[in-house]
Amino acid sequence: MSTSHTNVGDAQVPAKLTLTELADLKRRGTKIAMVTAYDAAGGRLAEAAGIDVVLVGDSAAMVVLGHEATVPVTMDEMLLLTRAVARSVRHPLVVGDMPFGSFQVSDSDAVRNAIRFIKEAGADTVKLEGAGRMLARVRAIVESGIPVMGHLGLTPQSATALGGYKAQGRTAAKARRLLADALALQEAGCYSLVLEAVPTPVAAAVTAALEIPTIGIGAGPHCDGQVLVYHDLLGLTAGHTARFVKRYADLATIIREALTAYVADVRSGAYPEERHTYAMPADELAAFEATAD
Ligand code: KIV
Repeated sequence: MSTSHTNVGDAQVPAKLTLTELADLKRRGTKIAMVTAYDAAGGRLAEAAGIDVVLVGDSAAMVVLGHEATVPVTMDEMLLLTRAVARSVRHPLVVGDMPFGSFQVSDSDAVRNAIRFIKEAGADTVKLEGAGRMLARVRAIVESGIPVMGHLGLTPQSATALGGYKAQGRTAAKARRLLADALALQEAGCYSLVLEAVPTPVAAAVTAALEIPTIGIGAGPHCDGQVLVYHDLLGLTAGHTARFVKRYADLATIIREALTAYVADVRSGAYPEERHTYAMPADELAAFEATAD
C-alpha cells in the first residue's frame, strides 16, 4: 500500500492509490487485495481493512438486486452503487464494472459509458469483460484517458456462450488462447487484468508473461492479487457459492439472530427502553397536556 498522505481539513488521510503504485506492488511482489463493494458502508469497511482496490462489480445484479445473473443490471443502477462507494473511500482505487450492453455495441458507446462512471459516479477506472472484439473498446476508452482493467477466463456476462459458470482455459489450446488474449489486453492498454476461474498453472503463466498485475478469483495463488465478492467473503450469500470462495465470517447468522432478537423485543415491548426515548421540559409537557385535554 502507498504510504503517501494528503491533508483534508485537520485529518491526515492516505492519498489515492495511483496506478504507478499498483504496478509497483507487482514489481515488489506485494500481493494486491481487492474486494467488491456496493454501498458506502462496504466501501468504508474495505478501506478500514486496508483493501487496495474496491470493485463495484456487476455481481451487484445478483448479490444486491436479486437477479439470477449479472446481465440485467443497468448503467443507471451501476452508477448509483458506484457513487455510494466512491463517496465513502479515499485511498483504495474505485473500479466501476461496465455492465452488459454498456460497451458491446460500439466504441463510442463504450467511451460514453466509461466517462459516466468517472464523471457521474466518481470511479477512478473501469473494468470490462472479454478480449477479441472488445480490444477495440479497451483502446478507445484508454485513449479517452480512462484506465481500464480487463477480465478474462470465466466472464459471467458471457456465461451462456461459455457453456455455463465453468472454469476456463482447461485445454492446451484454450490456455494458449487465454494467454494470447491477456497479452493483447495489455497491448491495448489495460493497467490490470482479472483472471476468473482459470487453472492455477495457466494463471501463473499469464501472470509471469504480463507486466501489468493480474488479480485472481479462482485462479490460484500465483496471481499478483486476489479479489472476492463481498457477500461471499462475509457469508451473506444464500445457497451455493463457487469452489474458490473462502468465507471469512458468517454475517448472515449474526444478522438473522440480531433481527430475530429485535422482532422479539418489539413484540414484547422490551424495546424501546427509557434510554432510547426523548424527554421534553416539564412545563411544556404540562401545557401540552392541558391543551390536549
Ligand atoms: O462483478 C464482479 O464482482 C466481478 C468480480 C468477480 C471480479 O467481476
